[in-house]
Amino acid sequence: MSNTVHLKSDGVSLIIDTSAGTPVIIHWGRAVSDAQLDITSQLEPTPHCDFDEPQLIGIWRENARGFIGEPALRGSRLAREWSHKFDLRSTEVSGQKATFVSVDAEAELEVVAKFELTDQGVLKVSQSVTNLGLTEFNVEALTAFLPVPDYTKEVLDFHGRWMRERQPQRQPIHVGQWVREGREGRTGHDFTLIQFALAEGATYERGEAWGLSLAWSGNNRQLVERTAIGRTFMAANELLLPGEVVLASGETYQAPTVVAVYSAAGIDGASDRLHRMVRARATHPTNIRPRPITLNVWEAVYFDHNYDKLAELAEAAAKIGVERFVLDDGWFGARRDDRAGLGDWVVSADVWPEGLGKLVDKVKSEGMEFGLWFEGEMVNADSDLFRAHPDWILHSGGRIPPEFRTQLVLDLAHPGAYQHVFDQVDAILSSYDIAYIKWDHNRVLTEASHLGQAAVRKQVLAIYRMFDELKAAHPGLEIESCASGGGRIDLGMIEHADRFWTSDNNDALERQSINRYTSIVIPPELLGTHIGPTKAHSTGRTHSHTFRAITALWGHAGLEWDLTEASEDELALLKSWADYYKANRHLLHSGRTVRGDQTETESQTYGVVARDGSQAIYMYAALRPSEFSRPANIRLTGLDAEATYEVKLVEPAGAANAMQMLPPKWYSGVRLSGGLLASLGLRAPVLRPEQAILIEAKRIIE
Ligand code: DGJ
Repeated sequence: MSNTVHLKSDGVSLIIDTSAGTPVIIHWGRAVSDAQLDITSQLEPTPHCDFDEPQLIGIWRENARGFIGEPALRGSRLAREWSHKFDLRSTEVSGQKATFVSVDAEAELEVVAKFELTDQGVLKVSQSVTNLGLTEFNVEALTAFLPVPDYTKEVLDFHGRWMRERQPQRQPIHVGQWVREGREGRTGHDFTLIQFALAEGATYERGEAWGLSLAWSGNNRQLVERTAIGRTFMAANELLLPGEVVLASGETYQAPTVVAVYSAAGIDGASDRLHRMVRARATHPTNIRPRPITLNVWEAVYFDHNYDKLAELAEAAAKIGVERFVLDDGWFGARRDDRAGLGDWVVSADVWPEGLGKLVDKVKSEGMEFGLWFEGEMVNADSDLFRAHPDWILHSGGRIPPEFRTQLVLDLAHPGAYQHVFDQVDAILSSYDIAYIKWDHNRVLTEASHLGQAAVRKQVLAIYRMFDELKAAHPGLEIESCASGGGRIDLGMIEHADRFWTSDNNDALERQSINRYTSIVIPPELLGTHIGPTKAHSTGRTHSHTFRAITALWGHAGLEWDLTEASEDELALLKSWADYYKANRHLLHSGRTVRGDQTETESQTYGVVARDGSQAIYMYAALRPSEFSRPANIRLTGLDAEATYEVKLVEPAGAANAMQMLPPKWYSGVRLSGGLLASLGLRAPVLRPEQAILIEAKRIIE
């Protein structure tokens, strides 16, 4: 068999050479021809003061082969066998998949690396280690390292906090490791979701981009590393706590999949590959049905549950075309505020003396589905559950962890705790016609141990199992992953949940950036985005109806606002907005997302282009007052450059507030080629800040 494995798909190549007896990634990037690789072209010279023979850095990066950086496998057996040398035992290639099995006979370890290049050109890397010995092997980390070219210049990743998730930070790649770690025991608001290494000048629209995303909902680590020898790598791994994974004889640790994306067409190109990959799954929600407009009552009533008020809200929602009504926190146990009741998933007789049936029936009679909130991993000290089983919490050394939102975390690796949550949730789902649950996770994990052993991993696997088992028991059930807003959004959870609550911040200005960056990885139809109250509860800012409604169109749209306070005019606009969403959701949820290279500080453009190039919808948002009396042109990217489009302004959510005597002449319609729209663009209106417009483009058949 040849020493070269070449996987190729959709403009991407992965070339792995095995001539050194270990898999060495030679190239991951732009597709190349199938010509045989001559590995001598990649052998380094031998500088002075260095190893006598040139080193090829294999995927396991063993010290034993002369690599002095961080190895892929870190771990030891009773403080021995810390250094490994894996000899390749088998290579299996099948279609776009390659599997390499290597063994260190002395250390009695087997490692397996699987590479799959999907039809969309996304590389999935999955690695495992098996203990072949008789004594225990302690795994500290199993990291997937991928080389990127020497000419990558910048790293782009995302940081955040509650209410301000996924903010970009871009900086030069320097020598050393630029590491992003998450130790919250959940994905975290600060989780980068993707980390890019970019060629010089790469933007949304152009240039080469390499990105890594860890498909995991627990502790995480991602990094870009430029070594002193000049070679550059990206890497990702599950961040394991001390002693968290100890393999008994014959046991295997399967590391979370690392999703790696390359694009020669900028960040938007990488984003589109990820969207297409996610959408290709049979279980992807839009492959089953269109995404229903959702009303979540949280910011309308908070803990103040009252049938009459909620019934009035349901009537108002139904009138404007809402399709799903979600009752949030406060319906169970002693949960009259956020200090009690978590863990007791039984309907509160205080607020719902007749049960939830009356409200469920009302919602259904208005033609909507019913959804309900849970936070199954959590418990308040003031709960029947904690009083009965104080030992069922994650804790270490007999200490009760510091409370966070007055709550503690249940140890789901404890069979009794898991069963309690499953049974109570299952009973509610069996008693009422519930199509959807919003599952929250409002605190970080501290001292997360199960019987003294670090247990974040066990907790993550348990929640994946919980979601899968609830869905199996209740076919058709949809689950939203929420963690104080966007604290549990990742490509691991995507296999178990159907929607993400993107952020607790419903301020439209903040959502302009949170949605924009979260959707680089997650297709918009999975990102909950709601029209919030006129005065945002998160920031106290007041935004026009139009700006809020246009901003909320770019995701799984919904509302989170006391509609009983809305004026007749606002309700009429909401109805027209909802009609527009329904008429266009297929396009919005299947097309190619384009961000375009706008300033991002002054204004930004965001759009979705139909796969066949026949039509597109764009949002142009003014974020700040323009520096000039005429703002920069609006460039509409992603259209067929050769085709002609009819372009016009549409106002299903009302008119934007502008500061101009006359609007741009194209508002009522203009014809331009896709090429001109992308390069020259349209003259921008002089909008007041925090305003947005919608632009439609339709291809003209001539
Ligand atoms: C945090 C969530 O993000 C909110 O949407 C809401 O569900 C509250 N928790 C309820 O406690």
